[in-house]
Formats: sequence, C-alpha cells, structure tokens
Amino acid sequence: MLHDFINWIREDLGRFTEDGLSWSHQLHQSLFMWNVIEGTHVLTIMFFAGTIWLIDLRMMGVAFRNVPISTLNNKVLPITMISFGVMIATGIIAFIGRDPMMYYHNIWFRLKMVFLLIALINILWFHYKVQKSEHEWDTIPPDAETPAKARSGPALWAFLGATLLLLGTFPITNVDLGLIVSARLALTVIALVSLFIYIDGRTPSIPRVVKLSGAISLSAWFLVIIFGRFIAYDWFYCEKTDPGSLAYVLQECAAYQDTSGEEGIFEEEVAPEDPPPEGEAAPTAPDAEPAQPTTGQEG
Ligand code: HEM
Repeated sequence: MLHDFINWIREDLGRFTEDGLSWSHQLHQSLFMWNVIEGTHVLTIMFFAGTIWLIDLRMMGVAFRNVPISTLNNKVLPITMISFGVMIATGIIAFIGRDPMMYYHNIWFRLKMVFLLIALINILWFHYKVQKSEHEWDTIPPDAETPAKARSGPALWAFLGATLLLLGTFPITNVDLGLIVSARLALTVIALVSLFIYIDGRTPSIPRVVKLSGAISLSAWFLVIIFGRFIAYDWFYCEKTDPGSLAYVLQECAAYQDTSGEEGIFEEEVAPEDPPPEGEAAPTAPDAEPAQPTTGQEG
C-alpha cells in the first residue's frame, strides 16, 4: 500500500495537467534545486545534532554539570526545534526531489526512519513522563562527589575492552561477512551498555531514567545521521542485491523492480562525450595502468 502511495508521489503529486510533470519530476529536472535543498539538510545538522547532544550530555551528567538542565533547555532548545523543523522540511523535499521510489526501497533510508521514530518516541517519553520530576534533579548538588568505586569500576574496563576488541576486528578481512558483522554488533552493544553503566555510576544524583533518555537520544540521532549518509552508497541497491537475500526482502526489492520500468526521466542523464575532430582517432591514455584492486577487494 505505501509503495503505491510513494509511486503516486513520484508520478502524480503536483501534476495538474495530463502531460504536466509531477513536483518530483520537476524537482529532479531542476539544475540546482535538489543540491541546494540537500546542502541545507546537511548544514542544518550542526545546529540540530550539535544542540540536542549538548542537552543529552548534560542529562547524563557528562558535561555542563554546574548548569541546571532547565537553563540549558530554555537557552538551547529553541535552536534545536527550529533546526529540527528545517531538517524535516528539507528531508521531505530531498526525498520527493530525487527518486522517492529509490529511497523508499533503500535499506539505509528505512533504518534512518526507524531510528528517527525511536528518537521522537524518546522525546515524547522524556517531555511527558520523565521531565515531570525535573525540579528534583534539575541541578547536580555542588558537593556531589563521584563515588570512588564508580571512578574506575568494572564497567569502564568492560567498555575499554569491548572497544579495543571492536577496533581489532577491522583489519580482519578473509572471514565470513555475517560472522564478522554480528561480532562487531555484539561488541558495539557491550561497549555502549558498559559505557552507560559507567556513566550511570558517576552521577547518582541524576535519576537513571533521565540518563537513559539522554543516552537513547544521543545514540538514535547518531544512527539517523550515519544511515542518512549511507543512503548515497549503492552497496545494497535493489539492482545489486541477490533476490531472496535479507537486504532484498527488507527493501521489498521485488515490488520496486516491478515498477522500476516506469522511471523514465529518473534514469541518470549521462553527458555525451565530445566526438574527436573530423579525421582524428579518439585519444587513448597510452600509459594508464588499469585500476589495481586494493586489499580485500580481490575476486
Ligand atoms: C532530524 C532528522 C534528520 C537528520 C538528522 C537527517 C540527517 C541526514 C544526513 C546526515 C544525510 C546525509 C547527507 C549527506 O552526507 O549527503 C541525510 C540525507 C538525506 N535525508 Fe535526512 N535527516 C533527517 C530527516 C530526514 C527526513 C524526515 C527525510 C525524509 C522523509 C530525510 C531524507 C533524506 C534524503 C532523501 C537524503 C539524501 C540522501 C542522498 O541521496 O544522498 N531526512 N539526512
């Protein structure tokens, strides 16, 4: 059902005459419009993510410990909310303007939307549940010493150990991809959970739910940004993904390939090569070596 709706957005939204173009096609054909929109989308991240992470770090008691959360909220949150509005507006236009079908059937775009939803649910939970008791934990008592045992407890060593092991997996190449990816995921989760336990122990005056909400926000927006960046890479594009593979199923590639014949003007326009002047053969690069595969790309 959503597939047909996205197809309607691509082909019909904004098309007022029979041979008119939809807004999606018009934006796609514009020379600069999409780039300006996506550029604004990228630049606004520094205002959005930059400010929301300041508040998240304070909620976890990691930074700005002598500033009441309410003060930081009042000063910074207006910037966060305006830039959030700009992110959503430019994101939707960028989505409509390049090829909404390609994005809708793109695993990174789908993961980005999932974590965007998680981040929004966390905001609602914080504002309508957790923040009700803000007067109790708005300030960190000035003499609130970090308990000695929390300064270098087992959680810190677990975090450092898991992080070192995770970094150690990156040089490893000739092993099963599924195995190495699940090992990295497991080590990342261990590192993040032990880091949270360590941070939680350092500031007992802030309730755990406040620190948890800050940690969920920080991680969810981090993943929204990473997955946003990955959208442009064609690693799992439907055209390159094996039918029946997990990525093929999660992206509903079968439905995408059913409609991909209709994309017409979305096909990337390739600029024609200038023909060599009359009577001259096309120049060849005499001494260019064919590209040599770097390690890990053999076969
Ligand atoms: C606050 C929320 C959002 C954040 C933090 C965010 C972040 C990002 C980032 C980091 C990129 C990569 C930019 C680059 O390096 O080229 C990106 C690209 C993109 N985002 Fe968002 N985004 C958000 C919301 C949205 C929404 C709501 C939509 C659409 C419904 C959207 C659609 C897109 C599209 C279409 C691209 C371009 C992908 C491409 O072809 O390269 N974004 N976003």
